[in-house]
Amino acid sequence: MINKVRNICCIGAGYVGGPTMAVFADKCPNLNIFVVDKNKQRVDAWNSEDLTKLPIFERGLDKLISKRRGKNLHFSDNFKKYISEADMIFISVNTPTKTKGLGAGKASDLKWVEASSREIAEYAQGETIVVEKSTLPVKTAQTIKSILDESQSINKDKKFTVLSNPEFLAEGSAIADLEFPDRVLIGGDNLDSINALVNIYLNWIPKDKIITTDLWSSELSKLTANAFLAQRISSINSISALCERTGANIKDVSLAIGTDKRIGKEFLNAGPGFGGSCFKKDILNLVYIYDYYGLHHEAKYWEKVVEINDWQKKRISNLIIEKLFGTVSGKKIAILGFSFKANTNDTRESPAISICKELINEGGNLFVYDPKVSHEQIRIDLNLPEARQEQDLNEGSWSYATSISEAIKSSDAIVIITEWEEFKYLNWKEIKSKMRNPSWIFDTRSIINICEAEKYGLKVWSVGKGSQNISNF
Ligand code: UDX
Repeated sequence: MINKVRNICCIGAGYVGGPTMAVFADKCPNLNIFVVDKNKQRVDAWNSEDLTKLPIFERGLDKLISKRRGKNLHFSDNFKKYISEADMIFISVNTPTKTKGLGAGKASDLKWVEASSREIAEYAQGETIVVEKSTLPVKTAQTIKSILDESQSINKDKKFTVLSNPEFLAEGSAIADLEFPDRVLIGGDNLDSINALVNIYLNWIPKDKIITTDLWSSELSKLTANAFLAQRISSINSISALCERTGANIKDVSLAIGTDKRIGKEFLNAGPGFGGSCFKKDILNLVYIYDYYGLHHEAKYWEKVVEINDWQKKRISNLIIEKLFGTVSGKKIAILGFSFKANTNDTRESPAISICKELINEGGNLFVYDPKVSHEQIRIDLNLPEARQEQDLNEGSWSYATSISEAIKSSDAIVIITEWEEFKYLNWKEIKSKMRNPSWIFDTRSIINICEAEKYGLKVWSVGKGSQNISNF
């Protein structure tokens, strides 16, 4: 059995594959790492001399790429060559929620995982350890295994073992999460293969942080971790609505409960609802699995976490309309932030998408500014061409703003959706002078200094802050 891994191939150069392999290459200079992707444009972007053109933005990633690329880290679209040379292959492809067919809207679409397994079955030589890195429904390793077993039985020179090694990195802090993870989880049923992967991690991770288990427990732990994290956000968001009604302050409530170490202080920020590629998808996967096993009450419990999340977004767009005298028709609204959280250009499941769509449907003219999200991405997400001229601004439109001041000029309201650092300390005096009256600020992340903004005559709504409209029992 393989006890020394030399060549690694990672299928998928996305948000997980790219940063993970960059850190592996940096921490293990003796490994040769080849990241392969079908998307030639993406591969070219990873190979770009200009590091600002890397396909994803992550703090510290450009430094790692410039340090390791061309040495022991390579990006290519040559699957055949690098799969055939690999001792260990990571599957890091995306697994979006199925849009049609059995399990549509809940189950994950495993077509890329299946395609990768088939390519591995065809091209791999000798002994190969296959590691699932993508977030997958429980028992996906079984799918991978059965495809590989088939090829093993035809060609006796091929030998495969499958491991689950879920990724817990969060976007925006991916490099730090990979360098200093809370834990590394490895599931499998072949001790030699598990040890081969443990040995790689031991290059930078203390032994006591490496947890080994069986395949299914590892896969289920990943879904459960994301479901628990998302549940905290829906819980605190549901409390934020109560704070607004009763006059309590969500920040104080979060602080008060978070100091109880059984609860913990992380992940207690109320906001516009969770986004990103994992939370909703993983909870819906869990729901699908529960339903499959006839555990419908448990399925409903987790489904509620997603429902509250959708409601938080709707609740925010509703209250914006309500505060702007019941209509946003023909009004200019500045949207500050479009990514699903700060420090990433990722917009998947961003709360900005549904909030903006609601406001456009109600006739608002939005001017969207985000320091990292591209014009084209916003167009794709809103599924609407940009308003180019004054006459396009009839009712319900969006335009791209290249700066905060362009977005806010003559606006009736500012909606802060992403907690980018540059939105925290705005010059309210100057902003007030550029807006129309009455000038509203909707702070869905509770990041601005309300007193400072109110001092200059701005009207402020901040999530979970209940100083206005307090109603008694
Ligand atoms: C998440 C998990 O954290 C990570 O372990 C897993 O591997 C992938 O999914 P990610 O989606 O990158 O990572 O971002 P995360 O920082 O977890 O935030 C998810 C969403 O929750 C964001 O929209 C964020 O704004 C929101 N959030 C987070 C809150 O609204 N409040 C909080 O207190 C924390």
